Amino acid sequence: MARDFKKIGVVGLGTMGAGIAEVFAKAGLDVIGVEADDKALTRAKSILESSTSRAIARGKMTEEEKAGLIGRISFTANIDDVATCDLVIEAIPENLELKRKVFAHLDEIIGDDALLATNTSSLSVTDLAVATEHPKRVVGLHFFNPAPVQDLVEVISTVITEEGVLDDIRGLVEKIGKKPVTVGDRAGFIANALLFGYLNHAVSMYEAKYASREDLDAAMRFGCGLPMGPLALVDLIGLDTTYAILDTMYHEDRDKLHAPSPILKHMIAAGLLGRKSGRGFYTYEGPGSGKVVADALTPKAGEGADKVHDIKKVGVIGNGTMAMGIVEVFVKAGYDTTFIARSQEKADASQGKLLKSLEKQVQRGRLTEEKRDAAMALSHPSHSYDDLKDVDIVVEAIAEELGLKQAVFENLDEVCKPGCVLATTTSSLPVIQIAAVTKRPQDVIGMHFFNPANIMKLVEIVTTVSTAEDVMLTVRDLCKKIGKVDVLCGDRAGFIVNALLFPYLNDAIKMLEAHYATTDDIDTAMKSGCGYPMGPFELLDVVGLDVSLAIQRELYMEFRDRGFAPAPMLEHMVTAGYLGRKTGRGFRNYAR
Ligand code: CAA
Repeated sequence: MARDFKKIGVVGLGTMGAGIAEVFAKAGLDVIGVEADDKALTRAKSILESSTSRAIARGKMTEEEKAGLIGRISFTANIDDVATCDLVIEAIPENLELKRKVFAHLDEIIGDDALLATNTSSLSVTDLAVATEHPKRVVGLHFFNPAPVQDLVEVISTVITEEGVLDDIRGLVEKIGKKPVTVGDRAGFIANALLFGYLNHAVSMYEAKYASREDLDAAMRFGCGLPMGPLALVDLIGLDTTYAILDTMYHEDRDKLHAPSPILKHMIAAGLLGRKSGRGFYTYEGPGSGKVVADALTPKAGEGADKVHDIKKVGVIGNGTMAMGIVEVFVKAGYDTTFIARSQEKADASQGKLLKSLEKQVQRGRLTEEKRDAAMALSHPSHSYDDLKDVDIVVEAIAEELGLKQAVFENLDEVCKPGCVLATTTSSLPVIQIAAVTKRPQDVIGMHFFNPANIMKLVEIVTTVSTAEDVMLTVRDLCKKIGKVDVLCGDRAGFIVNALLFPYLNDAIKMLEAHYATTDDIDTAMKSGCGYPMGPFELLDVVGLDVSLAIQRELYMEFRDRGFAPAPMLEHMVTAGYLGRKTGRGFRNYAR
């Protein structure tokens, strides 16, 4: 029978400890919270106060529930008060020596049957367990920030942990309404091991001035549906904690991608630790606040407005899914749009498909009949480049073949009026190689829409070494006018989103391949620990394993980082024809 835990000790009531105390007290257990002194206890109470007030404001808790919850927590500055607890969870700063001392002491004072846990995210649980006389009763209990919100708890077993102890702990985690995932003692466990390579990569892009902090964050929120961008998340986690986790991972795997970006160390030295110190990548209203305030790096609204060209008429090359999605976006935003197919029949057929798409929106009450008619009147199907003579911008959206795209741009160079912006939607080719075939590379730019273009908000704007500033400003302005979120980045493989997303997906495959965790556990960890809308294997199966492999190969060829090399398992699955949902089998099986 599962053990009945009644009283939980939490040692250390910082952001994580206070959150953990809240979670247990909310589930009806008595909690003894320990901090170093009265000042720290006061701060802990204020963390609890603001978290529970937020829960009330969002309708997640009543005033009575809050009073009951707070009433179940007793606060003390004397660690010996946890002697009567069934389980003591340590959540003090990530200092091995300090933690080992605390563990040795707790081991002496708690009862023979009581269990010990650490919330460490960067140290080895085994190293802490062996600081006690009873390492069999020590586990890792890794919560995610904010603990009251994120459902995941990683339960870490060491080679010494007793199986019965794990069963009891898993039972307890389920009892408090969280999702336990049990793994061995490896740097980063599941979620951090997959998250921190990605965060570090984003930090290095920022450090290299590849993209601004706002654009990096917006790209991942609007391109992947993540609840937070990577730099905002590093600020939430803390730059010091981020550094410590990366450093541990680097020492374990020697993967350069986990070597902490140098800027982290400098920012830490300057006291820029993230939200907790009031400033990290962003500036906050005050220490502990999550409210961003403007600083010297905040983009100024309207800057460069005088350089923006007037765009009235648009041309789109192509009539595939992507091209027609883009046509739909433009005509709905009121732009006169000519799209070019390879024959007039194909163009007319696509015009029919556009009407169907708009019709569906009318039926669903998302578009009025007048707006549908107005949009259709603005869409001109054609098969002749001559119809692009007087457009102000052309967006090319044909197949991803360099030769084909270059031929299109040579034609555009001949027919389009001077000053017309020439944009490509390529997701994988260097924009400069397309620009270089024209006599006006300054007017050529990348506009990477996401599929489906009429729904996904993000557009990555890619400037080459030749792109003129006014062209970039014009395209940014146009994106806003068509209701998109625009982010600016350099002309490198993967731009922002793919460069950050695919190595993470590849890492998840490597983790599976290493038999560290199952597909279900990895998917659960990312969804319940970090609020991702889909787990990595769910996403890989949707995107297609062949597409994922092609992108990963391209990233590897561009950056030549060992860590970017495609996971052998991905190569093998593609060879076997297991491409994901589209073939009925990928990392999971699907009914066809
Ligand atoms: N109890 C219960 N629910 C609460 C709560 C509380 N004390 N406080 C807030 N909530 C609920 C809110 O009601 C809201 O729920 P709904 O969406 O259902 O309405 C939800 O939590 C989100 O809260 P807010 O609306 O107040 O805040 P937000 O929408 O701005 O989200 C966020 C903030 C939860 C931080 C979100 O941006 C997020 O999930 N970000 C990702 C965080 C992440 O990745 N964490 C993992 C970091 S790694 C880690 O922690 C491990 C490590 O070792 C470093």
